[in-house]
Amino acid sequence: MDADAFHAQVVDQYSRHINPALAKLMNFAGFGVEMRGEGCYLYDHEGRAFLDCLGSYGVFALGHRHPKVVEAVIAQLGRLPMSGKVFFNPRQAELATRLSEVSPNGLEFTFFSNSGAESVEAALKFAKGATGRSKIIATEGGYHGKTIGGLSVTGREKYRKKFGPLMPGAEFVPFPSAPSSPLAGEEVRGVLSDSETSSNRRGVAWSEILDAIDSDTAAVIIETVQGEGGIHLAAPGSLAAIRARTREVGALMILDEVQTGMGRTGRLFGCDHEGIEPDIMTLAKALGGGVMPIGATLFTESVGTAIFGENPLMHTSTFGGNPLACAAGIATLDVIQDEGLCERATIMGDRMMAGLRDMQSRHSDLVSEVRGIGLMIGVEFSMDEVGELVIAQMTKRGVIAAYTLNNPRVIRIEPPLIISEAQVDEAVRVFEEAVVETGELLAMLA
Ligand SMILES: Cc1ncc(COP(=O)(O)O)c(C=O)c1O
Repeated sequence: MDADAFHAQVVDQYSRHINPALAKLMNFAGFGVEMRGEGCYLYDHEGRAFLDCLGSYGVFALGHRHPKVVEAVIAQLGRLPMSGKVFFNPRQAELATRLSEVSPNGLEFTFFSNSGAESVEAALKFAKGATGRSKIIATEGGYHGKTIGGLSVTGREKYRKKFGPLMPGAEFVPFPSAPSSPLAGEEVRGVLSDSETSSNRRGVAWSEILDAIDSDTAAVIIETVQGEGGIHLAAPGSLAAIRARTREVGALMILDEVQTGMGRTGRLFGCDHEGIEPDIMTLAKALGGGVMPIGATLFTESVGTAIFGENPLMHTSTFGGNPLACAAGIATLDVIQDEGLCERATIMGDRMMAGLRDMQSRHSDLVSEVRGIGLMIGVEFSMDEVGELVIAQMTKRGVIAAYTLNNPRVIRIEPPLIISEAQVDEAVRVFEEAVVETGELLAMLA
């Protein structure tokens, strides 16, 4: 079968048996069929290489098929891929121990699952069970997955409205956005005063989130950088203020590090920049090294005692903590440390952001802001339609990016942390070419 016929067959199978509307959308955008991945590149059905600046929304921190993770998974595959669930599982024990060593103080325990949404489900359930309260404060534009629990705290009405009533008790407040995001390494501004306002919710006081946290609150769930919301950094000091307020009223703080975790922002976890110590932290995506799916909910001893003290089987998952996924997680932590990937995220992120800001200065009619931290970068356009057109032009030129789910004006750049200087420069060059071509197209249509 030739390449075109193969592509047509896969699109047809998607249309008949997966999701016809999605098939139409992807086909319209001209997307090929993925066949192979290696390092920073994804290869399609025609053998074309694409520089992967999306990285499956943050999964490929180590690139595609990192040899050390693949080797660890293959070795485990030859011994015991899945747990029998009766005996002790040494891989799970080792990964939980490693996570307790590298995570913020107090997060001594881990519940393993298989995805980001599942890690959030466990976090919400633990918070409700541990406090006996049901009010959960979440942020507008925040994203925590599309299961009923995750959706209940996801701040975009478009994805929620068809499925109500969702979990009761969720309340939304504006995300305490930094007015504009400092470059990693740049001196951050001091704590915002109450009169200062967030950049993505102009006119809304930063203190609104603090006022909402009261003695009925079970937990605040928040990302350190809103990913799907459009790459918004939390204002310096805001997470610390939330931490202090939750402690004051006996509420818990859940940090969702599913996208920011594992080095993406230049530190192992987004909360490490300011030394925030949450009660519960969620991980997934990059924890499996781009080789295995895994979710993890880290929690304190007091949360653990409240949930599992009377019944050790209060929350369970058949596949959660399986030896293959845990072997991948252990190897991932080794690689991040051995290859200095957190530091690399800062260096390459600074280079990428400097290049993109330079590009922005030449195209300020179309590009309104470049912001981010480490290799979690967002480019905001001044009009809704521009992002989609730029992405199509980038794909045509061999670079993959995507817009953020809750904010289509923002293209997110989340390449592997192993990206080289030359690849960063290539991505910036292609981005600018795509912006120029889009600008010409829009001028023609005007
Ligand atoms: C911050 C955050 N939480 C949760 C999720 C849900 O993860 P999953 O798609 O693995 O269920 C995502 C996915 O993008 C995310 O970015």
